Amino acid sequence: MFLLKAWRSTAFGAYGYLNFTKNGFVEHSKRFNPEDMQIQIDGKNCVVTGANSGIGYATAKGLASQGATVYMVCRNKERGEEALSKIQSSTGNKNLHLEVCDLSSVQEIKSFASRFASKDVPVHVLVNNAGLLENKRITTPEGYELNFAVNVLGTYTMTELMLPLLEKAAPDAKVITVSSGGMYTSPLTTDLQFSEERFNGVEQYARNKRLQVALTEKWAEKYKNKGIGFYSMHPGWAETPGVANSLPSFNQSFSGKLRTSEEGADTIVWLALQPKEKLVEGAFYFDRAEAPKHLKFAGTSKSHSLIDSITGTLHSVASLDSSNPPLS
Ligand SMILES: NC(=O)c1ccc[n+]([C@@H]2O[C@H](COP(=O)([O-])OP(=O)(O)OC[C@H]3O[C@@H](n4cnc5c(N)ncnc54)[C@H](OP(=O)(O)O)[C@@H]3O)[C@@H](O)[C@H]2O)c1
Repeated sequence: MFLLKAWRSTAFGAYGYLNFTKNGFVEHSKRFNPEDMQIQIDGKNCVVTGANSGIGYATAKGLASQGATVYMVCRNKERGEEALSKIQSSTGNKNLHLEVCDLSSVQEIKSFASRFASKDVPVHVLVNNAGLLENKRITTPEGYELNFAVNVLGTYTMTELMLPLLEKAAPDAKVITVSSGGMYTSPLTTDLQFSEERFNGVEQYARNKRLQVALTEKWAEKYKNKGIGFYSMHPGWAETPGVANSLPSFNQSFSGKLRTSEEGADTIVWLALQPKEKLVEGAFYFDRAEAPKHLKFAGTSKSHSLIDSITGTLHSVASLDSSNPPLS
């Protein structure tokens, strides 16, 4: 097990160094088609979580530039208002709305979802971007380990509760979940809240991000007849407040080599703009192309068979009602 873990980290480090940095983006962008980004999406409603900072901010701005109506879901009203007014003045788009919701709380997500449902607007794009890497074990007031609460339970609850509004936008609807290349280092595990005595935030984050990729695969399969496309992606390594706070040494040693938030958000905006026929349901994307979900010899692929039991657990943890049956 130790050797396998060491191999995964080494393979991830080498693959990441070659592909996830700014140089990787510059190299990969040589095959980008500029016309892909010239699509206007006026009148489409996009919900972006964690839209006040980093990659979420760049995503909201990118979508607003293409004419979308953007609902920015942020946990802090002042930070959200500041971000919204910056995007409004730089894009000239007046169709921006702030929604305040702490995604570490299932109860808050449920209140948000019922408030939002009363607007009765179709949701064309849901971007599950909000996320964090917390190095210490912190338990939320609802009793969940914090990384799990936001990255997994928040993403799961939000997506499940937005399904009726996504269906209203079918067959145009998309759910884009922002995972991380860090997920390459971890198989899927049923230990959702990291029960080991020595907490390791980096490992927990990788597990959460692996779960987002497996969930996306499952959603695509389960809801294939609903006219909603499910995609996961990873942004590479981008310089953001999140990276500076959670990984200060990494941030320092890669100073000048990291992507901008806009480069990190590029594939999210690209996925939102492309016709669905061009995209692969349930796939994992990076730099505007489908990417592998597993690194060679990492022994992570068979673990995805655990997803049915995990979604059953998530469904009961989030106490979603019987009109919304579990995924399995
Ligand atoms: N930057 C990278 O290199 C990188 C690499 C791989 C994956 N990612 C993923 O990209 C996404 C964005 O990360 P980032 O690097 O842009 O970090 P960031 O600058 O810290 O942005 C994270 C966003 O999520 C929000 N958020 C965190 N906890 C929340 C909660 N409980 N409720 C609501 N919103 C919450 C933050 O709000 P506050 O501002 O209020 O904290 C912020 O808006 C994350 O899912 C991350 O895992 C980033």
